[in-house]
Amino acid sequence: MPEKFYVTTPIYYVNDVPHIGHAYTTIIADILARYHELKGAHTFFLTGTDEHGQKIEQAARSRGKTPAEYSDTISSTFRSLWDHFGIRYDRFIRTTDESHKVGVQKAFATMLAKGDIYKGEYVGHYCVSCETFFTETQITKDHNCPDCGKETQLLKEESYFFRLSAYQDRLLTWYDANEKCILPTSRKSEVVRFVEGGLDDLSISRTSFTWGIPLPVSVGDPKHVIYVWLDALMNYVTALGYGSHSENMDLWPADYHLIGKDILRFHTIFWPAFLMSLELPLPKHIAVHGWWTRDGTKMSKSRGNVVDPKKMADLYHLDSFRYFLVREVPFGQDGDFGQRALIDRINNDLGNDLGNLLNRLIGMSYKYFDGVIVSGQCEKYYSEELKRIQTVIGELDQLMVDIQINRYLEYLWRILSMGNKAIDTAKPWVRMKEGKEAEVQALLGFIANLLAKVALLLHPIMPEITLKMGRALKITLDATSFKTYVTEGQLLADFTIEKVPPLFPKIEAPLIAEASGGLSIAAP
Ligand code: ME8
Ligand code: MG
Repeated sequence: MPEKFYVTTPIYYVNDVPHIGHAYTTIIADILARYHELKGAHTFFLTGTDEHGQKIEQAARSRGKTPAEYSDTISSTFRSLWDHFGIRYDRFIRTTDESHKVGVQKAFATMLAKGDIYKGEYVGHYCVSCETFFTETQITKDHNCPDCGKETQLLKEESYFFRLSAYQDRLLTWYDANEKCILPTSRKSEVVRFVEGGLDDLSISRTSFTWGIPLPVSVGDPKHVIYVWLDALMNYVTALGYGSHSENMDLWPADYHLIGKDILRFHTIFWPAFLMSLELPLPKHIAVHGWWTRDGTKMSKSRGNVVDPKKMADLYHLDSFRYFLVREVPFGQDGDFGQRALIDRINNDLGNDLGNLLNRLIGMSYKYFDGVIVSGQCEKYYSEELKRIQTVIGELDQLMVDIQINRYLEYLWRILSMGNKAIDTAKPWVRMKEGKEAEVQALLGFIANLLAKVALLLHPIMPEITLKMGRALKITLDATSFKTYVTEGQLLADFTIEKVPPLFPKIEAPLIAEASGGLSIAAP
């Protein structure tokens, strides 16, 4: 049985079109899924859209549409962008899917039967934009949301509550026993401190609007709809069939829930407590990334400075955009988006260090040997270097497990620089004049083997460009090759290298005039 690997993105609200932040989370999930697939795991990658709640109802109404029509339109915008990006999700869930509704109602009924849900009255503040309840002491002096700063509403309505307070100790035990349940681990202390401060029971139903999943009919209280965050979080298991046809539940628990820091508490406090109540296992890692800003300021629709990921990827090449996103900023930290930094990465890391090495290999192979690479020859002259490469490779997996993709790439680039250095040291143009053909053959064999390993290891991050490398080097980028050349460190068979055009043509200047605002997304 192959290992299983289950990764999720947040399901995105349909009140907004996809921007760079959504693309970032989704691309990282895609990288993890592809990486584990290469390692031979049975992977399942879930993404989708979050369509219920007051915020969506209001957004639809302000555009003169029904929430259902409006959700259909925006949901398909997300889906088509991921398709355009070649994101290999296995399921695109919508919270308006019938099977999801059934699962959420089943969860409500289960928690109720267990005594974890009781009826009461909610009095307090609510931020529609964050779909979050706040107490008097949590909101700002001006009655605004402590998270997003927008105005909150004062609510006084009948509500069902989840006994979150009863889970405080069990949550603390879980954080304590699972070192890496929250990544980066530095985020965990923040959560622990919050939970140690005490947890209030959570209001989990609303009566003042209707765009949501009704309580199970058996409860007999039709004016309530289920709180959108209980509805939304449940997607991670309803997508596997929880509560309906549970055929994929053996994929549970998730290996990674990828989220942005804005939704940390929902995922690290509410969600594990819900799962404990449902007696389901808890996720292995909740991996929390930072915010993308634009030229140092927060991106927002009102500022009109939200970076359009499609425009960027179409202009600069999707793979280069993917590389930039995960190389430029360590996972967990905030990062700033600017075309200059992207261009530097393309010209230097990708063009000079990677693309050029392949070019040099192709050029010399044809100049000296009609393109024939005698791979085995390199063991005689480069056994130390080959060993060193395998040592570096041995450290990569842990970096991917900890989602330190920027460091994973740094390590890969160490391998590339060994290749570039080997050429400079060997000076093949001199060796050829001296008639030392075998040495030059060994060098080219070494570079070819090095690039084959890099192509395989880089494939999850740059799926398309690495295929061109694979074509040149005559290898298929699949789990079998990964095992042979990366894990076992075997050498390529002799082959004739194929000429491919330069992978990363140099970019001289920003492709969009910065001042025009052309980077930005148009409001929907
Ligand atoms: O929160 N930088 O949906 P959402 C980086 N429906 N990431 C960003 C970002 C930015 N500037 N802006 C958004 C929701 N994101 C809920 C989730 S899950 C059960 C329900 C990313 O549409 C980031 O991953 O507001 C964030 O967590 C997600 O988009 C929120 O998307
Ligand atoms: Mg949000």
